[in-house]
Amino acid sequence: MAAPQAVRGTRDLIGEDQRRHQHVVDTARRIAAAYGFDEWSTPIFEATTVFSRSLGDTSDVVTKEMYTFEDRGGESVTLRPEGTAGVCRALIGNGLTQSLPQKVFYAGPMFRYERPQKGRYRQFHQIGLELIGPSEPLADAEVIACGWAILQALGVAGATVLELNTLGDKPSREAYRAALVAFFDAHRGALSADSLARLERNPLRILDSKDEGDRRLVADAPTIAPYLSEAAATFYTQLQAHLRHFGVPFRENPRIVRGLDYYGHTAFEFVTDALGAQGTVMGGGRYDGLVEEMGGPATPAVGWAAGVERLAMLLPEAPSAPAGIAIIPVGEASEAAAVGVLQALRTAGLRAEMAYRGNLKRRMERANRTGARAAVILGEAEVASGVAQVKDLASGAQSTVPLADLVAHLSP
Ligand code: HAM
Repeated sequence: MAAPQAVRGTRDLIGEDQRRHQHVVDTARRIAAAYGFDEWSTPIFEATTVFSRSLGDTSDVVTKEMYTFEDRGGESVTLRPEGTAGVCRALIGNGLTQSLPQKVFYAGPMFRYERPQKGRYRQFHQIGLELIGPSEPLADAEVIACGWAILQALGVAGATVLELNTLGDKPSREAYRAALVAFFDAHRGALSADSLARLERNPLRILDSKDEGDRRLVADAPTIAPYLSEAAATFYTQLQAHLRHFGVPFRENPRIVRGLDYYGHTAFEFVTDALGAQGTVMGGGRYDGLVEEMGGPATPAVGWAAGVERLAMLLPEAPSAPAGIAIIPVGEASEAAAVGVLQALRTAGLRAEMAYRGNLKRRMERANRTGARAAVILGEAEVASGVAQVKDLASGAQSTVPLADLVAHLSP
């Protein structure tokens, strides 16, 4: 039988890959906590309607990319393609719409049937924030500032730029939509087949088209600025002022529309040119209508999600492998005492390892190869006098240490 392969678009995280991944998630979790966010874990699969009713029935995610299947009870379920819809479902289902604001951090796998390439997978991982309740632009700025702080702590902020846009309120979007339809209608012949379909259903999505011909046209298409209502324009101006107070640099980009349908007002992306085509590391915005659309009360909200794989690739340095302590018994009679030392060090929280066989030379070679920071050598003479030889493997220095002092001696 041929050996089984990982499914296309999935990856194993082992060694350095896992350490990079873990460092991104741990750092985000720590900084989100400082900003007052609490972690939620929601299920990896949900009833299909949780996504099909929320992400937009013209979005690529819903029309082409969901892993949807019938379970054995005949229910249609979907592996989550993103985290926002599940958090809103959980908010409503747990009666939390009466306890606002809710500041939610989450981390975990997401699934999209996309064409795999560098930085794009079918099972990928997101970290994300949702701030549910406040309608003030200060909330949008805080959410973005937390994202920025995470990128700074990871050492990747310098490689990214925050691109900011507003999608306005409903009246602004309706006026803008009419202007876009008029513009693209006059250039129907130059539109791709996909965008012709979008023209009827969701013309804003044309701005996001990857088609070369569409993109040339989009360059001349109207922007939303002249169609913003006074309220929407004020919201956007205030957001920019708050971002300056938080010290977050940004660049306006009127072409950002985002790939999911639930956004209004704020839309933003942190982009990089260090990852080739998959340049968006973090994206989000305001989604005031979503909780209500999913059956809850009208509830404003804003958030973002970031691709852990993309951030892990951007890390300037791989986190180093943990360096442990090698316990080395010399001669079979020392093994019992060595196990005792091994347990004492582990109980004290020190990373300690003992090989299962081998003479002194082999065991020392292994300790060096696996990057141990120290070796504790226990011959019969040492065991008899209650001491060990401790060798610092970085400096080569060796000393005799009473067994009772080992933990203190080896603690970092
Ligand atoms: P999104 O833009 O669809 O937004 O995804 C957010 C981030 O997830 C992307 O910027 C990218 O870094 C990463 N990502 C998306 N698809 C893939 C993939 N196939 N492989 C690797 N990384 C990927 C959302 O998901 C919204 N829920 C964000 C949000 C939260 N908006 C409001 N709150």
